[in-house]
Amino acid sequence: MPSHLQSDELVFFVNGKKVTEKNADPEVNLLSYLRKNLRLTGTKYACGGGGCGACTVMVSKYDPISKKIRHCAVTACLLPICSLHGIAVTTVEGIGSTRTRIHPIQERIAKGHGTQCGFCTPGMVMSLYALLRNYPEPSPQQLTEALGGNLCRCTGYRSILESSKTFCASNCCQMKGTGKCCLDQEENLTLSPKKNDICTQLYTKEEFQALDPTQELIFPPELLRMAEDLNKETLTFCGERVTWISPITLNELLELKVKYPKSPLVMGNTSVGPAMKFQGHVHPVLLSPARISELSMVTKTNDGLTIGAGCSLDQVMQILADEVSKLPEEKTRTYRSIVKHLKSLAGQQIRNMASLGGHIINRHGYSDLNPILAVGNATLNLISKEGRRQIPLNEQFLAGLEDADLKPEEILESVHIPHSDKWEFVAAFRQAQCQQNAFPDVTCGMRVLFKECTDTIEGLSIFYGGIGSTTVSAQKSCQQLLGRRWNALMLDEAYRLVLDEVSLPGSTPGGMVEFKRTLIVSFLFKFYLEILQELKKIIMIPLSNSHQYPDISEKFLSALEEFPVTVSRGVQEFQGVDSNQPPHDPVGRPIHHQSGIKHATGEAIFCDDLPVVDKELFLALVTSTRAHAKIISIDASEALELPGVVDVITAKDIPGTNGTDDDKLLAVDEVLCVGQIICAVVAESDVYAKRAVEKVKIIYQDQEPVIFTIEDAIRHNSYLSSEKKLEQGNVEEAFENVDQIIEGEMHVGGQEHFYMETQRVLVIPKTEDKEMEIYISSQDPSYVQKTVSSTLSIPINRITCHVKRVGGGFGGKVSKPAVYGAITAVAANKTGHPIRLVLDRKEDMLIKGGRHPLFAKYKVGFMNNGRIKAMDVKCYINGGYVLDDSEMAKYLLLKLENAYKINNLRFWGQPCKTNLPSNTAFRGFGFPQGGLLMESCITAVAAKCGLSPEKIREKNMYKRVDKTIYKQAYSPDKLIRCWNECLDKSSYHSRKAEVENFNSKNYWKKKGIAIVPMKFSVGFGMTTYHQAAALVHIYTDGSVLVSHGGNELGQGIHTKMLQIASRELKIPMSYMHFCETNTAIVPNTIATAASIGSEVNGKAVQNACQILLKRLEPIIKKNPEGTWEEWVGAAFEKRISLSATGYFRGYKANMDWEKGEGDPFPYYVEGAACSEVEIDCLTGAHKNIRTDIVLDASCSINPAIDIGQIEGAFIQGLGLYTLEELKYSPEGVLLCQGPDEYKIPTVTDVPEEFNGVGESGMFLGCSVFFAISDAVAAARKERGLTDDFILNSPATPERIRMACADKFTEMIPIDDAKTFKPWCIPIA
Ligand SMILES: Cc1cc2nc3c(=O)[nH]c(=O)nc-3n(C[C@H](O)[C@H](O)[C@H](O)COP(=O)(O)OP(=O)(O)OC[C@H]3O[C@@H](n4cnc5c(N)ncnc54)[C@H](O)[C@@H]3O)c2cc1C
Ligand code: FES
Ligand code: FES
Repeated sequence: MPSHLQSDELVFFVNGKKVTEKNADPEVNLLSYLRKNLRLTGTKYACGGGGCGACTVMVSKYDPISKKIRHCAVTACLLPICSLHGIAVTTVEGIGSTRTRIHPIQERIAKGHGTQCGFCTPGMVMSLYALLRNYPEPSPQQLTEALGGNLCRCTGYRSILESSKTFCASNCCQMKGTGKCCLDQEENLTLSPKKNDICTQLYTKEEFQALDPTQELIFPPELLRMAEDLNKETLTFCGERVTWISPITLNELLELKVKYPKSPLVMGNTSVGPAMKFQGHVHPVLLSPARISELSMVTKTNDGLTIGAGCSLDQVMQILADEVSKLPEEKTRTYRSIVKHLKSLAGQQIRNMASLGGHIINRHGYSDLNPILAVGNATLNLISKEGRRQIPLNEQFLAGLEDADLKPEEILESVHIPHSDKWEFVAAFRQAQCQQNAFPDVTCGMRVLFKECTDTIEGLSIFYGGIGSTTVSAQKSCQQLLGRRWNALMLDEAYRLVLDEVSLPGSTPGGMVEFKRTLIVSFLFKFYLEILQELKKIIMIPLSNSHQYPDISEKFLSALEEFPVTVSRGVQEFQGVDSNQPPHDPVGRPIHHQSGIKHATGEAIFCDDLPVVDKELFLALVTSTRAHAKIISIDASEALELPGVVDVITAKDIPGTNGTDDDKLLAVDEVLCVGQIICAVVAESDVYAKRAVEKVKIIYQDQEPVIFTIEDAIRHNSYLSSEKKLEQGNVEEAFENVDQIIEGEMHVGGQEHFYMETQRVLVIPKTEDKEMEIYISSQDPSYVQKTVSSTLSIPINRITCHVKRVGGGFGGKVSKPAVYGAITAVAANKTGHPIRLVLDRKEDMLIKGGRHPLFAKYKVGFMNNGRIKAMDVKCYINGGYVLDDSEMAKYLLLKLENAYKINNLRFWGQPCKTNLPSNTAFRGFGFPQGGLLMESCITAVAAKCGLSPEKIREKNMYKRVDKTIYKQAYSPDKLIRCWNECLDKSSYHSRKAEVENFNSKNYWKKKGIAIVPMKFSVGFGMTTYHQAAALVHIYTDGSVLVSHGGNELGQGIHTKMLQIASRELKIPMSYMHFCETNTAIVPNTIATAASIGSEVNGKAVQNACQILLKRLEPIIKKNPEGTWEEWVGAAFEKRISLSATGYFRGYKANMDWEKGEGDPFPYYVEGAACSEVEIDCLTGAHKNIRTDIVLDASCSINPAIDIGQIEGAFIQGLGLYTLEELKYSPEGVLLCQGPDEYKIPTVTDVPEEFNGVGESGMFLGCSVFFAISDAVAAARKERGLTDDFILNSPATPERIRMACADKFTEMIPIDDAKTFKPWCIPIA
């Protein structure tokens, strides 16, 4: 830090209140300041890198020149507090609360069932709030764009969109040209005839408060005065390691740049911030030009636009869109391309923060704008103390060549983007893992200039991004094509030249090398076609040497259409309650989540929202960087010397047992995977603890073997448990009597839970009797309690675990929280201090493991009519380094047959031991992988028989009461009903014909449709786990406290429990309260998992309430006209206990693996889903067009909650099967450690039309996978390719593109695998 500088006071407003910070630290971001300093915990931490939107707040800034206030949604995790001087911040707490008045947005999102776990909700609310501050009646498209940067892992987005759409005035999608309004639910209903007992209304719009913009917080007058003040001065904020200087004039900034030439200018901080946070960059001085108005100037000139480098990307988009609407089309071709790409660049929050200058100067290899700016001949206007100069934004600049670059003391003042000419055409293409909020895999800008009135190339430039560390030009190729005519010969030459020039080594970071090579030429082809179309429009006269300009056949034109960002719509049907049901009985009604409003106001308390406890310290984990090694030494001396560091916890500090022999809490002597926990640092703050982690020196000695892939594990005979087998019939004999046999292999990738709330725990040691209070985000607090007990050697009765709510679990918080709880408890035990542990997203993903990847070998024997006679399947799952939940392999076998009765079956399964983090429970527990495999076999059989997959499904589906492979009786009535209803509701057969018709007319776009049945087994498969207890107290005022053993994960379990209690006690839900899951109130609880939590706990609550009511009966009989309060009062006087324990001794479940027989599941849930997609064969992109789900929910306690579960699970399944990909380096390091690299579905991935009936499971997401597979098959058939291909999961753009093999996939070079080290390895 420059020693002579003194800190100024930082002044900003939060929710209308002035904040004055005398010690502003430039390294502190707004998120941490809000949560820790201001105790505003509504704004959440989920990724810390701007990629998830959980921390969205609105900032408002007054511009003294335009005299306007600009309101923007931003991500608080990337906003340094020092950038806030003079700014008003609005957080979720500032717009409404249950104590004052809730805001209409908060009300609608909660009552419209748009919240489940509620962790993403404040961010969603604030994105919507900022939108409505700018556009009180937005269009549905604006809504989708505004929410594009907000991730939700629970809801599937439909409910959020639906409730938010109530703010839209008109401007709807017009139901795809039907002229009907998608915003009108009643209107929608006419699309499907309404039966008497079928309801479609999940909430009443009429009860929503109107949006009244006059009720909003005003911009603080003090900030207006501050902005207008002419005597503003340079501000300096000095932190511990970094100084922030914010000058007021351009001249001052230039002087500072001379003084601190190496210091970055912090504009949006979306690049500098993540580098400081995640890569440990430290800049002693940061210069902030935010208050320099020259950098935001926009000037129109005769030949183009000059845009200030300080303009945000969103402003750039609006400025250019405005020009596009005003100028002739031929002048704005570059602008159009930029606007097109800006719409899909990051989310709205990042576009509001990131600046044009920052984007250009960064020169990221993936930059979406630099390729277009380069082909559009943009010029950079630089300024320094020496004066102004221009440099072209060209190949040399992008390559960072010294003489084409800025000098250290120069800054970028503005960017000039010229108009295009009449004979100049610009196009841009990008392909990313999903449509919105994803970095591009390949992005490009292309431009051609023709000799006037001809198709002769006079100028050509092509730039690609995403294929190297910087934007790459194909300049030489372009040079060689000058003078050529725009025709197929030129194009063929262009492919060859470009592939030669823009080479991509096999080991390129990011991988997907062959896909990227294919995209390079596919984009070139798209460009060619697009320009051909343009030429057709403007060249009227026949050209020399050609009679007519070549026509592109209609069939090929589909190459040009891009998938639009659409707004999802749909109808949800559910069984209404009986008309005789008393109005106060809430069971069966769509009651909104009991915490919904609190989620939306930010008042719902999650684990890390608990206030700081006296003497609290923080913990950070030290994890292995080696996959298999001996630990030679752990040296913590350097770490211990750092400021704020209190202690380092190792295995030696554990007073009891250190996990098990195989699975240690803290590694001793040996590590078995990257990410295994070795020790932990205790410090006074999380920042100190994390800094110290870097200083713990561990010396390793690498060991052999190192196994990552399933195939390697098989080779090394490396397994976590013995092989399990299920068999029925005579498989060998059946194979001898079939018409055909197919054999093959399939790989199904794993999945990261990506719950929005990372793992966190707070342990408070008590001074007496070794008691400990543990607040934890867990699906199984009793297991945490037990593990802490054995780790500390303290009886279980001294340890109390509290779970208020969990910000998403999906299985990832069943066993793993016990590890974090126990290590934190060891630290609390040793230091005597309360200890808090909050995992970073990166650590969470690195350490935890996820869904097991599957590798399977199958052999299927069948008759030509599609009847499958025999099947032999071997399944291997990648379990990681310890068993944990990898016994899941058994459940995979039990679930593998799905809905089919095949007489001769043999399933084998075994978990492989590898040097990867241990995989764990995940929604569906083996079924999503196994079911996909079975359905893939069905698809393969269909292809061989020349029959449609649904015929094969119908032929082989259970038809009557029969026995499963494990000899449990099964009746398929519901399955068949769901299947038929789904076929009917989705109009499957007519739409299939339409799909075929579409495919016959389009070569480059193909549609696919698939319908998949589901028989989902419920329960743990073990009798012990099918039990639950509850404790219900009635207090003397009549209020009721319900406690039970289930945990709130977003699935609305407490809401359902209160509904049940309300029905049983016959009093309204307003009497009921649930406080928290607490092991001291209801002991020995079972993990909330296996789709059974609400059911078993509900039975226990019912039991407790029935006991209580029985006790009250004599009193009620005596005074039947009395009130509830009177009865309770009388009972108390009569010394009748008003507290009762309820218990449910649940279903028996058994499985004899020796015999391969048993009754492992209490019952099944049946359903079917039909999905339609469209794929782009040239890029691998796909659009989810429509999904219909039919599921038998039996008697739903709460249809709104159950529909939310269906949709959420479906979208999570869609993510598993089409999007989410875990990539590991050849050294076993997880390469995707956050939302930037690991894509979960966003709001634009929701099917355009999403209809649901009943309740569903995650597996049904595979209907999208098979619809994709159907579309790919259509493309392959047309190209004359073999039909026996197997699409591995997930069906990412890479897999889809490469499966649609064509001349482009053939022309790219394929590297010999032995000649390079790949960036990532497949582990399935
Ligand atoms: C979650 C997320 C998603 C993203 N998605 C995409 C995407 O899909 N496609 C894509 O292309 N990009 C994407 N980005 C990158 C984003 O576009 C850049 O981070 C952003 O444009 C940088 O601008 P900034 O103002 O935040 O730069 P800052 O971080 O403030 O600064 C970056 C650098 O630029 C220099 N600089 C800034 N202004 C000037 C100036 N006027 N003169 C000289 N030097 C200057 C600074 O010194 C610094 O070195 C994403 C970023 C995030 C965080
Ligand atoms: S926590 Fe800020 S965007 Fe994810
Ligand atoms: S409700 Fe959105 S992440 Fe849970």
